[in-house]
Amino acid sequence: MATILADTSRTFSEYLLIPRLTRKNQSSDVVDLRSPLSAVESDQPPRFSVNIPVVSACMQSVSGTDLSVALARQGGLSMVFCSQPIESQVEMVRQVKTHKAGFVSSTSNTTTDTSLRDIVRLMDETGHSTVPVTQDGSAAGKLLGIITDRDFWEFEDDLDKRVGEHMTCIEDVIHGVDGISLREANKLLHRHKKECLPILDKAGNLTSLVFKKDYVDHRRHPLELLDDSKRLCVGAAINTHDYRERVPELVNAGADVLCFDSSDGFTEYQMEGIRWIRDNFGPEVVIGGGNIVSAEGFDFLVSEPGVDFIKVGMGGGSICITREQKGVGRGQASALLDVAQKRDEFYSETGRYIPLCSDGGLANDTQIVIALAMGADFVMMGRYFAMTEESPTPKTSINGQMYKPYWGEGTHRAQNWQRYSDGMSSRKMMFEEGVDAYVPLVGSLAEVLETTLFKVRSTMTNIGANSLADFREGAILTRVSEQSVIEAGTTNVFQFSRNREFEESDWGNAG
Ligand code: IMP
Repeated sequence: MATILADTSRTFSEYLLIPRLTRKNQSSDVVDLRSPLSAVESDQPPRFSVNIPVVSACMQSVSGTDLSVALARQGGLSMVFCSQPIESQVEMVRQVKTHKAGFVSSTSNTTTDTSLRDIVRLMDETGHSTVPVTQDGSAAGKLLGIITDRDFWEFEDDLDKRVGEHMTCIEDVIHGVDGISLREANKLLHRHKKECLPILDKAGNLTSLVFKKDYVDHRRHPLELLDDSKRLCVGAAINTHDYRERVPELVNAGADVLCFDSSDGFTEYQMEGIRWIRDNFGPEVVIGGGNIVSAEGFDFLVSEPGVDFIKVGMGGGSICITREQKGVGRGQASALLDVAQKRDEFYSETGRYIPLCSDGGLANDTQIVIALAMGADFVMMGRYFAMTEESPTPKTSINGQMYKPYWGEGTHRAQNWQRYSDGMSSRKMMFEEGVDAYVPLVGSLAEVLETTLFKVRSTMTNIGANSLADFREGAILTRVSEQSVIEAGTTNVFQFSRNREFEESDWGNAG
């Protein structure tokens, strides 16, 4: 007869943290959110850490180039999806690694002959107030001038007039020369009180733009995740089918972390893959395994010393219908508690600490906090990032509200059969394990993360913890009754208005 576990399969919303002593020298700005991603041997520093405990999901509708850059700039890491040809995944990794912080390629450009009316439209569509004017209208053309929204008055000037009559001509444009350091470029912006500095090559062609707002953003977010060569860090997903071809290319492109993207990582296929990567790329490369949901799965993946971190979660994702379709999975809290307990035992026995990633199903900021308290070293999220400006999908207006498409890797749309295949069955998806949906657009990644991380730090202060390790160690959780869930919201009051911007319920109710 089958074994029936004693406890019910539980979710994060069934738990609450009990406050502990907050000391006088504590405040949320001294809380350190750094977290290891590589296995930590006793008395050795981790080989790789993130500055905030957040990574983006290996998904087509989440981890593209722009999101990877934006997340690394905040101190987290994205996992560029592998449900695409090796060449295009490698190109995305390369673009993040070659992204020169502060030097951006111009995405809104025009020519001298364009009408002011068209410029107004371009500015409205893109939100850009500075537009380079090049000979051929391209981002790399010869720069003839710059037009900004201060060079004309939309409701006073004749909008049939041409850009050439209103722009600041090249002779008067303060610019930098290709090869200039970011520090020098920022000094020029400061000295000349400019918002934007075009960078030109020797022939006068535009190569990039430097914005004052990026400098300000950088000063406000000093946690950027950089490698030893000061390049942004990026992770890349891999699968158990083509790792022999994919991994060498990704490592060569500079991927900092490799992460198996599999709905079920408790397999001999994954173990073979981890072994092959270690044999061929040595001890330095960082490898994530999973997903698993039990202590037994953990034991299996650490039975050989190859894996660095392990992802926990099956069936909890916002777009996931695996539990419904196949009857496998586990409530995310039960899965994490089971695996974290095993991880801690393994650490006491061997001195080897395996970081855990709680993957999927996080419906609000509170649940991120609970996951970190229960033993996750960091969390992986899909929907959270799909809702930001930087996710790779187009904004769509539905009934006056802005949305972004978000679809699971197990949909016919994503065709990620490698994530779900057991390694033997045919190369096509027989049934879907995910849905194709829309999520509301909530703003830029930096804005949304700022609120989330502020809440995480603030809760850690309630527990008296200055680091995530202290937080896990000191956390005391209690199960909640249905009545106390009701009590947690407002009770018996009528609210006339409430600023709902970035409320957790906004991303909680979106799925
Ligand atoms: P979310 O943060 O709740 O949106 O969950 C994202 C996670 O769901 C991913 O990191 C994957 O582990 C998982 N996932 C992605 N696509 C699918 C799918 O189609 N079916 C089931 N799970 C999925």
